[in-house]
Amino acid sequence: MSRLRSLFTGIFVFFSLIAIADEGMWIPLLLERMNEKEMKSLGMKISAKDIYNINKGSLKDAIVNFGGFCTGEVISSKGLVVTNHHCGFDAIQNHSTLDHNYIRDGFWAKNYGEELSNPGLYVTFIVRIEDVSKQVLNGVTAALAENERQSIVDKNINELRKNIKKESYQDAFVRGFFEANQYYLFVTETYRDVRLVGAPPSSIGNFGKDTDNWIWPRHTGDFSMFRIYAGKDNKPADYSVDNVPYTPKRSLSISLDGAAEGDFTMVFGFPGRTTEYLPAVAVQQIMEVNDPAKIAIRDKALAVIDGFMRKDEQIKIQYAEKYALIANAWKKWQGEVLGLASTNAVDKKKTYEAEFQKRVNANPQWKGQYGNLLSDLEAAYNEFRPYGLARDYYLEITGKIELFTIAGQLNSLRNTKNNGTKNAYSEALAKTKEKLEGLYKEYSPQVDRSLFEVLMEMYVKDKIVSPLVLEQLKAANNDFPRWTDQLYSGEELTAGNKVMAALEQNPAEFLERTKTDKACVLYNDIAATYNSAIAPRLNEIQGRINKLQRTYMQAQMEVMKEKKFYPDANSTLRLTYGKVKGYTAKDAVRYDYYTYLDGVMEKYIPGDYEFDVPKKLRELYNSKDYGQYGKNGKLPVCFIASNHTTGGNSGSPALDAWGNLIGLNFDRTWEGTMSDINFDPSICRNIMVDIRYVLFIIDKYAEAGWLTREMKLVHPKKK
Ligand code: ARG
Ligand code: GLU
Repeated sequence: MSRLRSLFTGIFVFFSLIAIADEGMWIPLLLERMNEKEMKSLGMKISAKDIYNINKGSLKDAIVNFGGFCTGEVISSKGLVVTNHHCGFDAIQNHSTLDHNYIRDGFWAKNYGEELSNPGLYVTFIVRIEDVSKQVLNGVTAALAENERQSIVDKNINELRKNIKKESYQDAFVRGFFEANQYYLFVTETYRDVRLVGAPPSSIGNFGKDTDNWIWPRHTGDFSMFRIYAGKDNKPADYSVDNVPYTPKRSLSISLDGAAEGDFTMVFGFPGRTTEYLPAVAVQQIMEVNDPAKIAIRDKALAVIDGFMRKDEQIKIQYAEKYALIANAWKKWQGEVLGLASTNAVDKKKTYEAEFQKRVNANPQWKGQYGNLLSDLEAAYNEFRPYGLARDYYLEITGKIELFTIAGQLNSLRNTKNNGTKNAYSEALAKTKEKLEGLYKEYSPQVDRSLFEVLMEMYVKDKIVSPLVLEQLKAANNDFPRWTDQLYSGEELTAGNKVMAALEQNPAEFLERTKTDKACVLYNDIAATYNSAIAPRLNEIQGRINKLQRTYMQAQMEVMKEKKFYPDANSTLRLTYGKVKGYTAKDAVRYDYYTYLDGVMEKYIPGDYEFDVPKKLRELYNSKDYGQYGKNGKLPVCFIASNHTTGGNSGSPALDAWGNLIGLNFDRTWEGTMSDINFDPSICRNIMVDIRYVLFIIDKYAEAGWLTREMKLVHPKKK
């Protein structure tokens, strides 16, 4: 019986170890060796060299890291770039005024001259990637302590950087992969003159807002357009009226043929962070401890903010962005917990670990080297648990009470004034002023005190709490409203105009005075408690965990030979591929893979904050005036596929089998957000806006045909 059972588990493990086509965020440099064969068998019509090639223009030359947080792609020979609306939002917002409300109404330049500059915004191209593991790990041995290892690695990287072959206008950085078992060098080119060309109104670009966020079926036209400008020599240059549209090495052709079920697709971009190689114990901790704690804190914060936003138009404008930001991760974590549970992620990890352990035990050398790995990891994660939770509490709570943010800014400015150089102080002063100026614009003391009241009630639930908090609370008879009153009444830091004036007139005197400010003193104690009672232990255990995870990674690659490993996302350029397909979300709920403009109209709620539809779009719908962008009398809007993506992949191109642009990645389905921890091909899907909807909005809705005429539109399926 038990032999039969182990045979079955063996078979199960074997099947779950076979590389699943959809999973993986692959390094472009290694595609030829690792993926090309499989990609072709899945339907790809081009070669790995067409995707990544340093000797001649390849698809990678059309992909940019957009501003350090998103992905964009070049779609014309004149440097036109497309990304998501939510990626361009900051630029759109910065150019918006009451008279020119580009957030509400959209914006379209009618010629180059009308394109709007965005100080601080940049795009980065990847010139080439090199495996530099040997050089970086030279002299590193398994016996080294973490800090010793790090200083050797740093030294090697510094040495290496001196000898990198690159042009003066290029940059280079080295990053660790596979838990720092390998290192890769990236040579990059960053363009700093990136101008806003166009954006649809939010009622298209963010249609469905928070209600539809992370949700399929989706109907959002999540795109915005920019143009890269370069010096006359086509090299990176600071903003200047004399700059000219950048001529790229490569731009993407755009397919008007869309995608059908089962079609091969790939997504090329800059995924931020995943943790796919955690042991079961860590996954369980995320599910049972960290995610629920963070969700509970955000539940409270969102309820407070929402209550005010519904009553007060001014607060609604001030807090819309903050609300969206808090809600985004909050909703994702909920999907993550559900998805981990519904796919039995912990059990699957345990089965995998049992197989790993069995193989290790059967080999004396491995047994000596890796025999205790899993139990050491388990012990370390168990030790980590209370500190990880305390960190979540601390960051989630203090980060949302803006009186603390203000106090923190002033405390650290005072520190710099008293301990730093004159120069450092004047720089910090300017930065603080800028930061606080922005903060106060979107600050309501009323909302903030309500947040304090409910969130501090959560804070004291943790085991490691600031003594001053306990003292003050006791003095207020454990009455949170009363304590809140005592802190906020007469608190001068809640009055933005006064603080800004004081920082302008006599900052030194103001900083001295606020040394005894109630909020500054309280926040100081909370931060000091964290820094003395939590952070040191946390960092120490985390260091041990990092080392164990690195060894575990190395061990898996050695022991689980049949498995194809990809490195966790680390904000470097990756390619992921999969197929267009629907999914079964739960019993009897099956989702199709395409949405159409008809669905936008089904969701339409006149005048609604989330689901209003602009008049012109309704007219175009009624007249069915879709031009070359429609198909069988319908206009495609969004679609899903099994590509493995994460945050940072926003704006990434979805490419067809020939490498033509067919859509922009912008989200994942709710049931599948656990793909950051445990990708499951049955329910993990990425959501893309169909490029035909994007073109339709530009051409028919915004009547900006001068832009679509710049692009190369193709019909690959009609060949
Ligand atoms: N969930 C997507 C991503 O993480 C989209 C976020 C922006 N859209 C929104 N409705 N909040 O980042
Ligand atoms: N919306 C995410 C972003 O801003 C991409 C969606 C995801 O996390 O998969 O990068």
